[in-house]
Order: sequence, then C-alpha cells, then structure tokens
Amino acid sequence: MSTQSRKTPVSLNTLRQKKGRGQRFASLTAYDALFAELISTSGVDVLLVGDSLGMVLQGHDSTLPVTLDDMVYHMNHVRRGNQGALIMADLPFMSYASESQSLESAAALMRAGAHVVKLEGGAWLAESTRLLTERGIPVCAHMGLTPQSINRIGGYRVQGRDPSQAQTMVDEALILQDSGASIILVECVPVDLGQKITERLDVPVIGIGAGPHTDGQIMVMHDMLGLTPSSIRVPKFVKNFLPESDAGIPGAFRAYAQAVKAGTFPGPEHSFT
Ligand code: KIV
Repeated sequence: MSTQSRKTPVSLNTLRQKKGRGQRFASLTAYDALFAELISTSGVDVLLVGDSLGMVLQGHDSTLPVTLDDMVYHMNHVRRGNQGALIMADLPFMSYASESQSLESAAALMRAGAHVVKLEGGAWLAESTRLLTERGIPVCAHMGLTPQSINRIGGYRVQGRDPSQAQTMVDEALILQDSGASIILVECVPVDLGQKITERLDVPVIGIGAGPHTDGQIMVMHDMLGLTPSSIRVPKFVKNFLPESDAGIPGAFRAYAQAVKAGTFPGPEHSFT
C-alpha cells in the first residue's frame, strides 16, 4: 500500500470539524524527521513531540529530566520530516511553573515549528492557558494521569475512579476550555469518564487509556511497535500493531490509524472500567 498524501495540512479546524462530524482521528508521538515523515504519511493526523522521549530515547525512568532544549532539538527534527500533520510539543517539567515562564518556553517550541503546545495539569493552568492563547499559541491541556507529577501521584495508575475526583476532572476540563484550551488530552481514566469529558466539551478530546469514546487517540510510537524499553511496564492500553502489519513499520502506522478511525481500537481489553 502506498503512503497517503494530504491536499491540505491538518489544522485545529480540521480536528474541530472531525469532532463535529463524529469522525475519529489518530495521533502518535514522533521524535525525529524520519519517523515524522513515515507517521504523517500513514493517515495519522497529529504528531506529538512528547517528553516521553526521556523514557523511550534517553533511558530515564520518568519524564522529569527532559529539558526545554531537548524538546526544541527534537521539535526541529520532527518539523523537517512532517508531511502535513498537526504538530503538538510538550512543555517539559518545570518549564511552565509560572505564567511568564510558560510564555517564554512555549515561544521557543513555536519558533521550532510546533503548532500547539501541551501542558500537564488541571485548573491551575487556566491563567497560563489564557495568556498563551491570547498571544496566538494554541494549548492542549493534558489531564488525568500526568507523568510529570508522578512523584505526587505515587505511581502510574488510573485516575478519576472516585466519583468526586471524576467530577473535579470534568469541571476542570471545562475551566480550561473556557480559558482557551484548543485540545484536552486525557490519560488513564475509566471509559465512562473519557466519554463524559468528550461529550461535555466542544473542543476535541484525545485519549490514551481513556476508552474508545474520545474524539482522538494517541500512543507512544515505541509502544505501538512493541519497542517499550524493558525497564518500563507495558501499560494495559498499549497495543502492538506490528504483528498485523502488511508492510513492516509503515504498515503498522497505517493499521493503527485505520483501527482508530474505524473505532476498533481501543477495545475493552485496552480500557479501564
Ligand atoms: O509525552 C508523551 O508521549 C505524552 C503521551 C503519553 C500522551 O504525553
């Protein structure tokens, strides 16, 4: 099967329209030019230059050691390889601890070619989200399991199982949307909470371990190729698409994009109830 070329680049409007039409979209992480090209020509709409690179590329046991310079370095490479996907980039740990710092850090990623910056947190991000959005920098707010807070959370575990915690997450997602967030990403929450957040919000919601009802899905590229480093426990929400590929790694990217769009991934075996 040949690679897919796009007539027009994916934008936030594209994602909003897809949400409006009930069409799912697929996202994957990418950290270099070659994989950015392979992924963005395989039907995947959004690339994330994720700070997960600290774990899958650099060999750390968390994302905390990743610096803004690391992110800018990888962002520059992904920009060169990208063929029309929307590129999100993570603001790494402690690069947005204050509002003015968030502006400077986000500007560095935007100059390197990001279209959207991603920040981890809840309602406390409202002011930074407003500040960035008003200055032309689209924001994705990452909620639920937020790996940069792993020491406070105490482990990589499902968030929002408790009804009051779930309600707080819905309320905070609405606050962030009202503050200007263009995308909400929810990680590791029960299926019904992923569905509720998606239905309550007007902006596109991307899920990872959040069930099948979110507008988009995302996975770490190494995980969906069965390349999770041995020091990391493979999460339940991960599926290795390489075995069902008809054409090696590019075929696995296409199989993932097709499964997300057809609604066959994630299945119940990848979701939390
Ligand atoms: O850094 C990353 O790869 C992420 C995804 C897990 C969503 O934030």
